[in-house]
Amino acid sequence: MKKKELRIGLIGCGFMGRTHSNGYKRVANFFPDLAYTPVLKAVCSRSEDKVKAFAEQWGYESYETDWKALINREDIDAVDICTPNNMHHEIAVAAAAAGKMVLCEKPLSRTLEEGKSMVEAVEKYNVKNTVWYNYRRLPAVTLAKKIVDSGKLGKVFHYRTNFLQDWTINENLPQGGRAFWRMDAEAAGSGVTGDLLAHCIDLAMWLNGGIDDVSAVTETFVKQRVHEESGKLEDVKIDDACIFHCHFDNGSLGLFESTRYARGHKAMFTFEINGEKASLRWDLHDMNRLEYFDNSDDSQVRGWRSIHVTDGDQPYMDKWWVPGLSLGYEHSFVHQVADFLSSLENNTDCSPTFKEAYETQKVCEAVLTSAANKKWEDTGVEWNK
Ligand SMILES: NC(=O)c1ccc[n+]([C@@H]2O[C@H](COP(=O)([O-])OP(=O)(O)OC[C@H]3O[C@@H](n4cnc5c(N)ncnc54)[C@H](O)[C@@H]3O)[C@@H](O)[C@H]2O)c1
Repeated sequence: MKKKELRIGLIGCGFMGRTHSNGYKRVANFFPDLAYTPVLKAVCSRSEDKVKAFAEQWGYESYETDWKALINREDIDAVDICTPNNMHHEIAVAAAAAGKMVLCEKPLSRTLEEGKSMVEAVEKYNVKNTVWYNYRRLPAVTLAKKIVDSGKLGKVFHYRTNFLQDWTINENLPQGGRAFWRMDAEAAGSGVTGDLLAHCIDLAMWLNGGIDDVSAVTETFVKQRVHEESGKLEDVKIDDACIFHCHFDNGSLGLFESTRYARGHKAMFTFEINGEKASLRWDLHDMNRLEYFDNSDDSQVRGWRSIHVTDGDQPYMDKWWVPGLSLGYEHSFVHQVADFLSSLENNTDCSPTFKEAYETQKVCEAVLTSAANKKWEDTGVEWNK
């Protein structure tokens, strides 16, 4: 069967540019039944030397150094935004207006205002869209969702999650510029809240429903850093650490922690859900495993089961190797590409859409407002309401 082409124009060839390109290149080999196949038409970045080398390395047919030129090309169907957060809004709105599908990296936007206008743009121009909250598509995490949806946990009481790193402890690190845009509030929007907690919040609402209100505390441990662009010592306006608790719409309590100051942790991302009948927990460092406790098990052998999610009847695993062999971080992106292509075929949404990711933005905004005002804050989230 001749495949339909989805001609990709990817903007930004850093970390995510690589993971997405790998996803586009792998998908046809491992998901051979899809009706669509991605074609790496063009990649864009500002430095010609860098983008040319990237195009050659990853097999893009062409390159651009101006993203506006890329989105206006007639041979591009879908624009993939892998730039720092301050570019998401402008590129997404322009790409939608040019009639392109838009795949945008997380967080959707820096602010609620930007996010709202991005949702309006994709709805106005009726273009397919998705946001790369890729952790949903690790098999063990997808299995957690299946278990939750089956009702096996019963009434949920607690949702606990954290995302811990340690890479910004050095007080001599600069802020801003190409390498340290995450430290610059103008480029990133916020610190760990938009960068790391956004992942935790997306997964939490996907698994456990809407978050109604939050009470948060944030801290910026190093108050001033030299800005790469101005060369001057400037106030640091991002949150280095953020802790919040919340009420979910289903009555359960949530506890979230994220920091870039947890010495020894590079990317510790975990969640745990405690229900009346059963509990689940997952840890990115052991991403192929899901731990499950079922209170209805025979009491003699009852305990936490460690499920190695690598069997053919577990999510996505029939596409890969033989049972027992693990997948990695990169596979979550291959799976998101596969799900996006399949959504084209079936004319469905590829979740999370901009609209869903905007709900995550609402929680991020409420968290930062709550921390600033030292008060509980309603999120205004409308998750499946
Ligand atoms: N899904 C995830 O788990 C995950 C992980 C990391 C980053 N991200 C998100 O992906 C996005 C990119 O992060 P990254 O780590 O790849 O950053 P990065 O710094 O590694 O790469 C950013 C790229 O964007 C390019 N760029 C910047 N401004 C540009 C412009 N005006 N025109 C064209 N190119 C431009 C840079 O040259 C660079 O190639 C961010 O929004 C980030 O939050 C998501």
